[in-house]
Amino acid sequence: MYGDTYAPNIKAVIKCIRCSSEFSLTDKKIMCSCGGLLQVEFKEIPELTWDALRSRPFKLWRYRELIPIPSGARIISLGEGGTPLIKLMVSENLVRIKRAYIKFEGANPTGSFKDRGMSVAVSMAKYLGARVVACASTGNTSASMSAYAARAGLKSLVILPKDKVAKGKLMQAVLHGAILAFIDGSFDDALRVVIQVAEKYPVYVLNSLNPWRIEGQKTLAFEVADEIGVPDWVIVPVGNGGNISAIWEGFKELKEAGLINELPKLAGVQASGAAPLAKAFREGLSVPEFIDNPETIATAIRIGKPVNWPRVLKAIKESEGVLTDVSDEEIISAQEALARLEGIGVEPASAASLAGLIRLRREGLIDRDESVVLIATGHALKDPDVVQYYSTPTYYLSGVNILTLIREITGNIARS
Ligand code: F0G
Repeated sequence: MYGDTYAPNIKAVIKCIRCSSEFSLTDKKIMCSCGGLLQVEFKEIPELTWDALRSRPFKLWRYRELIPIPSGARIISLGEGGTPLIKLMVSENLVRIKRAYIKFEGANPTGSFKDRGMSVAVSMAKYLGARVVACASTGNTSASMSAYAARAGLKSLVILPKDKVAKGKLMQAVLHGAILAFIDGSFDDALRVVIQVAEKYPVYVLNSLNPWRIEGQKTLAFEVADEIGVPDWVIVPVGNGGNISAIWEGFKELKEAGLINELPKLAGVQASGAAPLAKAFREGLSVPEFIDNPETIATAIRIGKPVNWPRVLKAIKESEGVLTDVSDEEIISAQEALARLEGIGVEPASAASLAGLIRLRREGLIDRDESVVLIATGHALKDPDVVQYYSTPTYYLSGVNILTLIREITGNIARS
């Protein structure tokens, strides 16, 4: 299937969510001239059945009718999607909830959910004739973009906040041959630069402003509904706000297509040092107050001016959901619980979803009997430096004392 030419019969447009102007699907714009965000919108939703969809492999492109890339576009894929949905066992006791699942997006080809958006958006970049693709990134977008660009034969330019990108992600961008440009500043500054560059030079921006990124990422919702139906809650770590917006669009489209009957509530979780949207929600602001110097251990979501804020506030309102924030300590303790009680290794930003669930349960916003899906956005290997917050019994062995050690361990187990 990968690499096939895809030629659906599409009735869709790109539409500005602010001024409602409509553009053709082959327009290269990533923002409306009014400054509004763009999104792909079906004029007529394709007729689909679960049986027909399920006759295809459980991967992102199972849902290809709902990803309206133009006929003739060649799909650039690394087999993304179809990630595991794992029922939580031990931490069910920790959180005191009956049905909680974790959608492990770390199982994507470059280790994060970004691969969904990149498969679609890089396919479009290639189709639109781009030669250079660019992004600002806290790390995962750059890792994913440079891998997909390599496969498509495109050059990658990534703009990164200096000293703030986790090592695994940086290694991936280097490995895949991206051109790196560091900036003294935050992700938000880097994004401003990338947008300026694209105004002057022929580079195609692949940040989540790009409506095709959202088209790919909405498949996260499709997969959850495909496997377990519609949960009561979906809990998502929020940085720039692309993913939670995409998940909401995904569920809405399934409902429109008659494939589901209800919608979930969404909970967006930010890190306390980078939480302008959680604050806006708490204080009932219609426009968030941005933060100039965001700070958190969860560098992936160290963002003070989330560009997708209008989409996020709308999604939370429409879904009757919530936005909350969690401290770095809560994030690390959730990461530890997932790793040590469940065997699921995620990077800190991803653990924000479990930390958010613990908090929302404590506050009584989520009930014990409700079903919850936590989105674990990226793999633990992305950020090896967090190991400094952990300890584990460690010995230097010579051949003789291993027996002493084993006796000690088995003795400990017998006593525990
Ligand atoms: N989790 C991880 C692991 C991420 O890398 C990101 C975003 C998010 C959550 C938040 O997603 O921005 O759609 O709300 N990382 C971007 C990057 C910003 O550059 O890799 P969002």
